[in-house]
Amino acid sequence: MLKYFLYLVLAAIVIGAVAGGAHLYRVAQKNKKEMAPYQGEPIKVTKTFGKSLVIYYSLSGHTRDIAQRISQKIGADIYEIKTAQQLDKYPWFYLNLRSQLKKGEFPALAGDMPDLSRYDIIFVGFPVWWYTMATPGYSFLRQVDFMGKQVVPFSTQGSNFGTFFTDFAKNAQNAEILSGNSFNNLPAKYDSAVDNKIAVWLNELQ
Ligand SMILES: Cc1cc2nc3c(=O)[nH]c(=O)nc-3n(C[C@H](O)[C@H](O)[C@H](O)COP(=O)(O)O)c2cc1C
Repeated sequence: MLKYFLYLVLAAIVIGAVAGGAHLYRVAQKNKKEMAPYQGEPIKVTKTFGKSLVIYYSLSGHTRDIAQRISQKIGADIYEIKTAQQLDKYPWFYLNLRSQLKKGEFPALAGDMPDLSRYDIIFVGFPVWWYTMATPGYSFLRQVDFMGKQVVPFSTQGSNFGTFFTDFAKNAQNAEILSGNSFNNLPAKYDSAVDNKIAVWLNELQ
């Protein structure tokens, strides 16, 4: 009996590993195709922006990286959204987040909200959690009013941003939303292509 149980466990592990490997391969191929047009010489940002601000939340650094690149390219101020309590990084916490997103339970934030009155255009970036915005993103959008501001959303994710941008549009109060962009987590070999992707997006922004 134990023998069959062990066979079953082994089969599940093998199937999981093969499916996981196939998924990673598909994502890598998709990334390669998406980033191909951005390889090559560095592209400069030629468009000028008014007084601009980049707002972001980041748990593990990817969204911070994109936020900093945007801010450096256009000389924007930067504001980091922080939760009042440090969020855990345990697997069960990730599962809890799923039910929190379903129930609309969002964490308290730390510090004062940024003063948006000084800015013409505001970039807002969050990680994708369970195919939508990370919970601190929802907390933030509940507390700010973008009346009279142009707002540009951006996401970072493993591979699938799900309903991030429609959820953003539904929750960004009174925002005039410009074309957003999404950034998959990529290996370092794509670093300069990511810069070019940001530059092309900024130059074409409307
Ligand atoms: C709780 C949780 C849920 C996630 N859900 C998704 C998802 O639905 N789709 C996806 O492509 N990536 C998903 N990811 C991966 C993150 O979106 C990705 O790693 C993101 O760049 C993390 O941003 P950060 O480093 O700024 O925190 C998830 C990560 C976490 C922690």
